[in-house]
Parts: sequence; C-alpha cells; structure tokens
Amino acid sequence: VFAQEVVKVGLILPMTGPFASTGRQVSAGAKAFIAAKGDTAGGKKIELIIRDDGGVADQTRRIAQELVVNEGTKVLAGFGLTPLAMAVAPVATQAKIPTVVMAAGTAAITKASPFITRTSGTLPQYSVPVGTWASQNGIKKVVTLVSDYGPGVDAEKWFTKEFKAKGGEIAEAVRIPLQNPDFAPFLQRVRDAKPDAVFVFLPSGVGSLFMKQFADRGLADAGIKLIATGDVTDDDILNSMGKPAIGTITGHFYATSHDSPENKAYVEAFEKANNKMRPNFMSVGGYDGMALIYNALEKTKGDASGPAFMEAVKGLSWTSPRGPVSIDPETRDIIQNIYIREVKEVNGQLHNVEFQTFSALKDPEKAEA
Ligand code: DHB
Repeated sequence: VFAQEVVKVGLILPMTGPFASTGRQVSAGAKAFIAAKGDTAGGKKIELIIRDDGGVADQTRRIAQELVVNEGTKVLAGFGLTPLAMAVAPVATQAKIPTVVMAAGTAAITKASPFITRTSGTLPQYSVPVGTWASQNGIKKVVTLVSDYGPGVDAEKWFTKEFKAKGGEIAEAVRIPLQNPDFAPFLQRVRDAKPDAVFVFLPSGVGSLFMKQFADRGLADAGIKLIATGDVTDDDILNSMGKPAIGTITGHFYATSHDSPENKAYVEAFEKANNKMRPNFMSVGGYDGMALIYNALEKTKGDASGPAFMEAVKGLSWTSPRGPVSIDPETRDIIQNIYIREVKEVNGQLHNVEFQTFSALKDPEKAEA
C-alpha cells in the first residue's frame, strides 16, 4: 500500500499507572470498532498506533509531537485525563492535526484548540441531570465531594448550580486530591454535615476504594444517600464493589446494560474479544472516536488535513452503543442522552440500570456562553 493511501491514527493513552483501566478500555473500544467495520474509511487504510503516556502530561505531549513529526500521524486520539488532553492542545493547533478526545471530560478542553473534538462528554453534561433528579426526589441538603482537578470542579459547579436553582441546599463542598486519595477524613466531614445525600465525582477506576470506605465509615447506615456521576460506578469495576454499591443513583452516557440492538452487538463482540471484560463508558468513547474518524474521512473522501477534517466533523451524527449522538457544529463537543441509573443486582451481577433519560443534551458550560 502506498504511504498516501494510509491514514495513521495515533492513540495516546495511560496503558500503565493508576489510570491504566482507562487506556485498556479506550483502546479495546477503538479496536472493537475496526473489528466490526473493517480497516478502511474514505478509501484510505486506517492504521492504529497505540502509545502509552503512563498518565504523565509531558509524555503525552512528547509522544504527540513524535507521532506527528516522525511518523506522519494524521489524527491524534485518546487522552485519558484532562491534563493529558490539555497538554496536546498546542500541538494540535500548531500542526493543524485533528485531535479526538475519547476519555477526558472537563468542559474547557474543546475550547483549547479548534482542532479538538470529543466523543466522551463533559462533566457539566452528566452532573446537571443528577441535580435535577435529586431536587425532584426528596433530597433537600447535599454535600458535594469531588476530585480536585478540572472534571471535579466542573461537576461540583454544575450539580450545585442546578440543585440550588431547584431549591436545594449545599451544606459543604469538599475536594479530594487526585493522587493516592484516602477518603476517610473527607467522608467524616460529609457524615458530620448530616446531609440527605452526598454528590460525588471521581475519575474512572477509583470508585472501588471509595465504595469500601463509604460503607466502612457508616454513611449509608447514617441515612446519607450516594448520588454521583457514572464515573464512580464504572462498569469495569462495578461488580467488585459488591453490596455497598446497590442503590447508588448516577447520571452518565453509557451503561453496559443499555437496552438496544446496537449495544447488544457491541457488548457481545467486546466481551468475546477481551476475555469477558465488561465494556464501560471509556470503551464507548474509544469506539465512537473511531466512528467519528471513519465518518469524517468518508465525508472528505479520505482527506485527513486539519481544516477539511474539522469541517467534516461538524454536525456528524450516528447511532452509538450509548444511543443517538451527534457532534455540535458550534463547539465540536458531543450531543448525547444522559441516563439516570440505579445500581441493581441483575442475574447475580451488579449493573447500572437506566430508568430516566435526558435527551440530546449539549454541553451546558458552552450553551451558557
Ligand atoms: C476524567 C477522567 C476520568 O477517568 C473520568 O471518568 C472523567 C474525566 C478527566 O480527567 O477528564
């Protein structure tokens, strides 16, 4: 195959370190897309190059530069955490490289470069519906508890804004360090404030330790309800959380148990290809990131140059395993359903069971501006 007939897609992810589950899920989702749809788009052969940044932003930027300058990579993708995506924004802008954020969720990321688009979503998008649900279900007083960086700050701000607008009270806003969190002292503060509920954001992979300490500290026994973004009850680790997770109410764009023919096919193929690993929302960010790349290249007839590709991205729509999605032409962020779910035991397994849908939500942070 001639070089010009290949489009190299550089997938940069934390494949090692504390956020390796994100890298594992996103890369498996991207591969599942290629396995399902083949390896050509817009007449070009798609070559996926997967690189490990270990979750370190300097590495993400160095790898991005290396892929673009030395390897002729035409599209960058992945980005497991907000600081990793932010580190690549100047590279995307300078080299005019289409950059597809498949995992990170701080609203501001797509504002950092006109060459960034996204197939995960934003924390404001997931948090507002949880605020709506709480205000309509007898919850009057809440403590917020979030990881102290971009997505946590977004989750706190937008849950609070919605919940207060609907008459709720925030007793306290608690922020926890991202690295090596010990939740115990923070959970004690929550307990002492005696709220009806605690609203939580933690990045994917951290929820198991949190759930254990939540139970050990007796918050459920004290009558404090756990509500969260779906990052906390991540399907990849939900089963390992056991009984304490049951009854948790969350908002997010994807549950493994989402009931649609597209998702049934996705889960079956994914579990078969990955030794029965359950696909979580990160995997769907990876799968849809490839869907976006394929759809854009079909539209440009294989032209992956930055301006042409980014023009093609605007307004794309398709049916994802999560439901209907489209790319907002104004913001390059994804418009999607956010589902309210409850953790339940289904056939001996824990699942996020969807029971209410907020349809076709844009990122509220940008809708406001
Ligand atoms: C981010 C990381 C996560 O693991 C997650 O679940 C949500 C957001 C982030 O860093 O943007």
